[in-house]
Amino acid sequence: MRYGYFDEENREYVIDRVDLPVSWTNYIGTKDMCGVFNHTAGGYLFYKFPEYHRITRFRPNSVPMDGPGHYVYLRDDDTEDYWSVSWQPVGKPLDKASYSCRHGFSYSKYICDYNGIHAQQKLFVAPDDPVEIWDVTIKNTDIKPRNISVYSYVEFSFHHIDMDNRNFQMSLYAAGSKYENGIIEHDLYYEENGYQFFASNFKPDGYDCLRDSFIGDYHTEKNPIVVEKGICTNSQDTTLNHCGCLQNRLALAPGEEVRLIYLLGEGNVSNGKKMREKYANFEAVDNQFNKLSKFWDDKCEKLQIQTPDEGLNTLTNQWTLYQSEINVMFSRFSSFVEVGGRTGLGYRDTAQDAMCIPHSNPQKCKQRIVELLQALTTTGYGLHLFEPIWFDKNREDQSFKSPTVVPVPDKESFVHDIKDACADDALWLIGAIVNYIKETGEFRFIDETITYADGGEGSVYEHMIRILDFSIREAGANGICKGLRADWNDCLNLGGGESAMVSFLLYWALKQFVELAGYLARTNDAKKYEENAENIKNVCEDVLWDGKWYIRGITADGRKIGTHTDTEGKIHLESNTWAILSGAASEERGKIAMESVKEHLMTKYGLMLNAPPYTKPDDSIGFVTRVYPGVKENGAVFSHPNPWAWAAACNLGLGTEAMKFYDALCPYHQNDNIDVRQSEPYSYCQFIYGTAHSYHGRARHPFMTGTAGWAYFASTQYILGIQPDFDGLIIDPCIPKDWKEFSIVRKWRGGYYHITVKNPDGVEKGIRKMLIDGNPVDKLPILAEGNECRVEVVMGVAG
Ligand code: GLC
Repeated sequence: MRYGYFDEENREYVIDRVDLPVSWTNYIGTKDMCGVFNHTAGGYLFYKFPEYHRITRFRPNSVPMDGPGHYVYLRDDDTEDYWSVSWQPVGKPLDKASYSCRHGFSYSKYICDYNGIHAQQKLFVAPDDPVEIWDVTIKNTDIKPRNISVYSYVEFSFHHIDMDNRNFQMSLYAAGSKYENGIIEHDLYYEENGYQFFASNFKPDGYDCLRDSFIGDYHTEKNPIVVEKGICTNSQDTTLNHCGCLQNRLALAPGEEVRLIYLLGEGNVSNGKKMREKYANFEAVDNQFNKLSKFWDDKCEKLQIQTPDEGLNTLTNQWTLYQSEINVMFSRFSSFVEVGGRTGLGYRDTAQDAMCIPHSNPQKCKQRIVELLQALTTTGYGLHLFEPIWFDKNREDQSFKSPTVVPVPDKESFVHDIKDACADDALWLIGAIVNYIKETGEFRFIDETITYADGGEGSVYEHMIRILDFSIREAGANGICKGLRADWNDCLNLGGGESAMVSFLLYWALKQFVELAGYLARTNDAKKYEENAENIKNVCEDVLWDGKWYIRGITADGRKIGTHTDTEGKIHLESNTWAILSGAASEERGKIAMESVKEHLMTKYGLMLNAPPYTKPDDSIGFVTRVYPGVKENGAVFSHPNPWAWAAACNLGLGTEAMKFYDALCPYHQNDNIDVRQSEPYSYCQFIYGTAHSYHGRARHPFMTGTAGWAYFASTQYILGIQPDFDGLIIDPCIPKDWKEFSIVRKWRGGYYHITVKNPDGVEKGIRKMLIDGNPVDKLPILAEGNECRVEVVMGVAG
């Protein structure tokens, strides 16, 4: 069953059946103001922090589904019938009203046709200001004149989400609202600058600032009393709950269309006035929207592909890049699953996100890398979860103590102990830094001085050495890296036990560091860490091979995890993909391990994380044994490691296999299978229920997952084989045998590469020849700014 389709030309996903089984979400805002909205305009807005600076309220995981939102109600003043421009909250029967939603890049559009009125509401954040714009059009498609009243509605939130949800004796009495010159002001009384405004480009015929006056006793957003009666109460006051309702009465001649602009922004009424002056005209609104489109055009044009796989094309050219960008911009704590109760950056998540898209967002990736370096301890581990603001030297202290501002803990309390360190966290950063330099050529970055979380400072290069030394040092009884609080798998809690995955990850990080040090002629370091890498590889091969696959680890009391003798958790995806991906596994063992992965973990929706799932709690392995079988880390198709398997397959030259894995997970291919999948087909989800669960195939947690970055990275760098290097662009695809040809346009270091790859002999890997503007080369050279070149690659046996 399908609920919509991809509109590639407009870069939108169109939901033409809005009665979805779960919310399909989208993100608006590209800088400080951000909103998460579903297909019926349910959702919330915040400024900088979803936890500390909420603007609108959301009642998540509730009934009716995911509300309230940023709504526009319409009322026929002759018949007293009313509805909403998005299907919810009024929810007119779908056989009487036609509804659709278009989720685009940083905007969503809600479209409705009902009883001779066509209406549309577009939500986006102005790129230049912290202002959410609602661009609304209402057209009379009837043959007779119509009298229509329009009502906006948002419910304001107390800034601090925790207080908003729990501490009503605070939140209910510390906020107020007023109406002045057509503008509503929401005021968090004791907070300096604790204001929002709601304005429009018309002179309102009525307003309501008090939520309960708008909704009415024993009514809900589905049937607000003000809309039902058609009269605003013009409420405003200090204390209690506040909302933004502006009413506009329209008399529409047949065929007449009216466009209304609403603005929800940061700042008080006078700022609202300024913003209204700036954005009350359509040209200014159009300019902002065009600027937003251009922002995304610039990112997308960095890499465009045309291959025989439609899912790969649409997702790489558009949606997976978009999802990866959302993760770099907003991290993990603003969605309908994480509704703002946490904030900040996760060390490993952010490092991986930043590694994957330095081509489309070099500034933000660098900013993230610097934030992570500042959150590194001198011991060499990262702070697992932290607020970048803790380390911001330019941070201004708040002149007063209030519970609604970001609390800054004492230095001593935010630097956690090694017992809370995750063994993998900082290792990812090595990959992020090396990839950033390969993309941008900014070698001087490694000499920049950056502070440590627990005091002192050092160059980026020194930070890298501390990271590697920490992992080399923190080895367990068998010489394998300790698992500590957790490794990539949050639910594998090995403490002093050992993690195969971390050892392979360390090998991968060391190899990258050695490459960088070698390139920069820091020969002693290159030699020293190459020796470490060799040593780790040998220990891994000695200790971790189980005959047909690599084990997952060793508990603190010396029991191996993930061996052929286990009846639960017999084989794990992370250790086997990383053995191959890191280059530590021999080709022979790698191929055997990959066969085992396929045999034990493959499903029609992708690879499961482990099998068979655990059913008996075992705290020496960790929390994973206490998760329901087939769910999340315990035997679900956990999406994030799936791209590791694509990359691993490519390292073994198995291009057909890599694309089989790709296609199984690819949400695009699930577009017509929503009765099973339920979630959106334009976004990777954190997990898909595994075979051990009756919901097998259902996907959960869209957008906020490291899958996006890794899917993008693995498919472009390993399958399509476009790999930036320090001094040139490497082309080394690994594709299905039956692909005859594909093409790529890549913008790299200012030059444009138009690349065509032909595969006349039906191979999976290997280059017979590569010509740049007709001349043979091994690697594509760096072009001068703005220059273009044509590259012809013929796959086959070299020579
Ligand atoms: C979640 C976490 C991520 C972790 C993964 C596996 O996605 O955000 O950090 O690696 O789960 O446990």
